[in-house]
Amino acid sequence: MKRYSKASDIKVGVIGYGGAFNMGKHHLDLMLKAGMTPVAVSEIDPARLEVAKKDIPGVQTYTSVTEMLKKSDVNLVTIITPHNTHAKLAVQCLKAGRHVVCEKPFAITTKECDDMISAAKKSGVMISTFHNRHWDGCAITAVKKLVKEKAIGDIVRIDIAFGGYGQPGDWWRSSKSISGGVMYDWGVHLLEYSLQIIDSPIEEVAGYAKVGYWAPKTKWKADTNEDEGYAVVRFTNGKWLTLRVTSLNAKPVDYWATVTGTEGTYCFDHGRWELTQVNSNGTSTITKGSNAPGEGEKFYENIADHLTKGTQLVITPEWARRPIHILDLADQSAKKNKALKAKYR
Ligand SMILES: NC(=O)c1ccc[n+]([C@@H]2O[C@H](COP(=O)([O-])OP(=O)(O)OC[C@H]3O[C@@H](n4cnc5c(N)ncnc54)[C@H](O)[C@@H]3O)[C@@H](O)[C@H]2O)c1
Repeated sequence: MKRYSKASDIKVGVIGYGGAFNMGKHHLDLMLKAGMTPVAVSEIDPARLEVAKKDIPGVQTYTSVTEMLKKSDVNLVTIITPHNTHAKLAVQCLKAGRHVVCEKPFAITTKECDDMISAAKKSGVMISTFHNRHWDGCAITAVKKLVKEKAIGDIVRIDIAFGGYGQPGDWWRSSKSISGGVMYDWGVHLLEYSLQIIDSPIEEVAGYAKVGYWAPKTKWKADTNEDEGYAVVRFTNGKWLTLRVTSLNAKPVDYWATVTGTEGTYCFDHGRWELTQVNSNGTSTITKGSNAPGEGEKFYENIADHLTKGTQLVITPEWARRPIHILDLADQSAKKNKALKAKYR
């Protein structure tokens, strides 16, 4: 793969400059901070292109990705569009010889991930996924306490969950065919945290889905996300993990995650952690604290270092495929009513 002599030689374009969280500006700011040069924005909504022009004076704007790839000299493209468009747009950019960063989730199906990885290999370019939350303070602190310091002995299980009680909105995130389902938006982050804590190949996945309670009340009807999704992942080293994403939790959970070990229990959410350690006399000691600050800007620093110095990519496409493979298997398993063996372990 060709190396750039300096980060500013990496000319970046984004596809999608959406209004929900102004993510296009967020990405371009982070890439600029990592030394890269923002050049272009492609967006099908002309009103959002106007916002991009105001946000980034002088930026090139395109209403078509094909046109951006033809006319601009961007060499890295970040895709910030709804989930069902990631794979198609990524393959288009990769085939045009551009490096690609895809917003999470990497894609919806394992097959889409495979297609993206093989297109990148064929063109000799990089593909990664914006797993900025790899560096969330809660993940950094949990890995330090549980993996490096072994604060709860051997890990037995992770129970991780997200959600509350409420009708899905009218936005695309509530459409099953566009979003992938209720588990894809936050589930992918929770799995990425968990896979940093349980270092083992995946054996099998059992998925469960409750559908239909909210559907009649939404604009998506039969295409509305599941009311709740649940997955049990069995790892080859005997550990397991449960993931639940729900819109039916009338009583919200206290912490997002409970990690159970042979010598204690560790709970965390975005800001806090609570550690219960069992003493030799049978009593237990509870300590609580705040998570380390997040370091999400490391994502693009690593991309710039990878493309200029050949530094190892942290979020490889194979790593990004693991949570998608789990979610894909969970979806199929829920439909088939049986656990499914993992292809990518
Ligand atoms: N990592 C994070 O913390 C984080 C936070 C928010 C969103 N996201 C992810 O970012 C992605 C986008 O989410 P969002 O909240 O910005 O959604 P959004 O709906 O606000 O924006 C999506 C934009 O993509 C545009 N678009 C769709 N198809 C296009 C195409 N073919 N070419 C050009 N533009 C196109 C739409 O017009 C829209 O403006 C999703 O994958 C989401 O999960 C990640």
